Amino acid sequence: MRIFVTGASGWIGSATVTELLAAGHQVVGLARSDASARAIASAGAAVLRGDLVDLETLRAGARASDGVVHLGYSHDFSQMAEAARMNQAALETIGAALEDTGGPLIIASGTLGAAPGAVLTERDVPDSGLHPRIAASQAALALAEKGVRSVMMRFAPTVHGAGDHGFVAVLVAIAREKGVSGYIDDGSNRWPAVHRFDAAHLIRLAVDGAPAGSVLHAVAEEGVPARSIAEAIGEGLGVPVVSVPAERAAEHFGWLGMFFGADSPASNILTRESMGWEPTHQGLIADLKEGHYFRFDGN
Ligand SMILES: NC(=O)c1ccc[n+]([C@@H]2O[C@H](COP(=O)([O-])OP(=O)(O)OC[C@H]3O[C@@H](n4cnc5c(N)ncnc54)[C@H](OP(=O)(O)O)[C@@H]3O)[C@@H](O)[C@H]2O)c1
Repeated sequence: MRIFVTGASGWIGSATVTELLAAGHQVVGLARSDASARAIASAGAAVLRGDLVDLETLRAGARASDGVVHLGYSHDFSQMAEAARMNQAALETIGAALEDTGGPLIIASGTLGAAPGAVLTERDVPDSGLHPRIAASQAALALAEKGVRSVMMRFAPTVHGAGDHGFVAVLVAIAREKGVSGYIDDGSNRWPAVHRFDAAHLIRLAVDGAPAGSVLHAVAEEGVPARSIAEAIGEGLGVPVVSVPAERAAEHFGWLGMFFGADSPASNILTRESMGWEPTHQGLIADLKEGHYFRFDGN
């Protein structure tokens, strides 16, 4: 198939491009800059120049392809409402372009906070009021009724590996700056995790064969205790590991404080059963023990 990938230059997207090409698909990656275009081309994919706000470009990219993997997202936490609006418009445009084609539309989403107080399963439908992104993803998933093979891919909040710049890399930077590696209260709250290459493999399986309307969890570990993450970071940096009271979380962790205390486990049982997906790469703590998170270049 010819697959249009938004976010093709990103953390998950770049691994997805490699995975799709290796499986024999043609890939066209959206690039908003020369640097992104170079990265996508050097991976062996074709490049479509444009920004996520260029809806005409997104429409053309989707129409010229057999399916779309939508991973592009603006992660500027000072512009969260704008990012959600941009994502909704992009999804609506791509979804409309795929109507009645039966082509796959992989919709990136997340597990974090989607089922407060419970283990999130693929069958759970999160409250659309929690975040505008959830409502946009649910609307795109409903395109299954309009001839789109829509698939929601909920990623663990930690998609890890060498070169990661996500939550765990930020925790490492905070621990380095503060001279202590913190967890919130008793640190028993759990974060799911998945290795980047396992996530990319699941995306490829979904492109190839997930049924319309599927919800899949790119989750290899149901929940790694926050305290274990803090301990591995403390060991890696050679700094003490400390409990931070919840009321001081924002002061210590900054914007990450509102996420790091969440107990947000997520199951992968239905995903593994339905897709025959078995994560094969190392878990988060083993990945932290490899040491790459503690080198300044992160590689
Ligand atoms: N990584 C995780 O742990 C995680 C967890 C849960 C959910 N997710 C979701 O999974 C998806 C992929 O995440 P990721 O970690 O791969 O993100 P990432 O590394 O931040 O990559 C984001 C991608 O989106 C592109 N992009 C951002 N704004 C754009 C714009 N205005 N126009 C065109 N392209 C734009 C970026 O292009 P440039 O290269 O040009 O910047 C990049 O290719 C996202 O939807 C994310 O929210 C990720």
